[in-house]
Amino acid sequence: MRIILLGPPGAGKGTQAKDLVNKYGIPQISTGDILRKNLAEKTPLGLEAKKFMDAGGLVPDSVVIGIVKERLKESDCHKGYILDGFPRTVPQAQELDKALAEMNTPLDKVLSIEVQDGELVARLSGRRTCRSCQEGYHVMFKKSKVADKCDKCGGELYQRDDDKEDAIVNRLKVYQASTAPLIDYYTSKGLLRGIDGVGAMPDILARMVKALEN
Ligand code: AP5
Repeated sequence: MRIILLGPPGAGKGTQAKDLVNKYGIPQISTGDILRKNLAEKTPLGLEAKKFMDAGGLVPDSVVIGIVKERLKESDCHKGYILDGFPRTVPQAQELDKALAEMNTPLDKVLSIEVQDGELVARLSGRRTCRSCQEGYHVMFKKSKVADKCDKCGGELYQRDDDKEDAIVNRLKVYQASTAPLIDYYTSKGLLRGIDGVGAMPDILARMVKALEN
């Protein structure tokens, strides 16, 4: 199963992708996670991406397209994958189409997770992430058992730099300008399914599974 999770920052793409990984046994490919890993390791790619990410802007298409094309060639992608946060612009989507046509591996579905801006701001400003294993938490909606410690590995929880207020506002604007046009792009290809992204996390997962299996 080859799918894309589309949706604004904070829609729950990363949260739901982890449950879909468990359910279907296919990898999550998150360009945001790949870029943050490079940043943590201070690679040239990570240092270059940092200035775009901290301000809530997009990393240049040429950079992320190269990352994804390489990742799709890895052996764990043979059974499929969940693209999370890619594509994010029409040129990225067009390059993905070309790469998938060459590999003769068409997309199955694109799930567009829909959440209003007010809820997105509340989710992003309260998000915390484990520095060691990247598990996601929220100060209100998904609390860790011990404050600032990961339930799974005991790692330190931190707030992403781009989850500060100015960067959140910019990310929402960038989403509308650059990524929302992908809704029409994939609707015209008959691949898009809209998912109500508000409510309990297991209910949203059930909506996604239904959309994928029907
Ligand atoms: P990326 O990491 O992809 O960030 P994003 O798209 O902004 O998405 P988020 O991770 O913020 O949100 P999410 O939808 O995954 O929400 P989550 O599940 O965590 O990208 C970061 C940056 O990298 C970009 O700004 C850009 O600079 C760069 N980048 C990445 N990809 C790129 C690309 N293709 N091209 C160019 N640049 C790129 O949930 C959020 C919070 O809400 C969590 O705390 C969670 O616990 C909570 N939550 C989730 N679901 C619910 C629910 N149902 N109810 C209550 N709370 C919930």
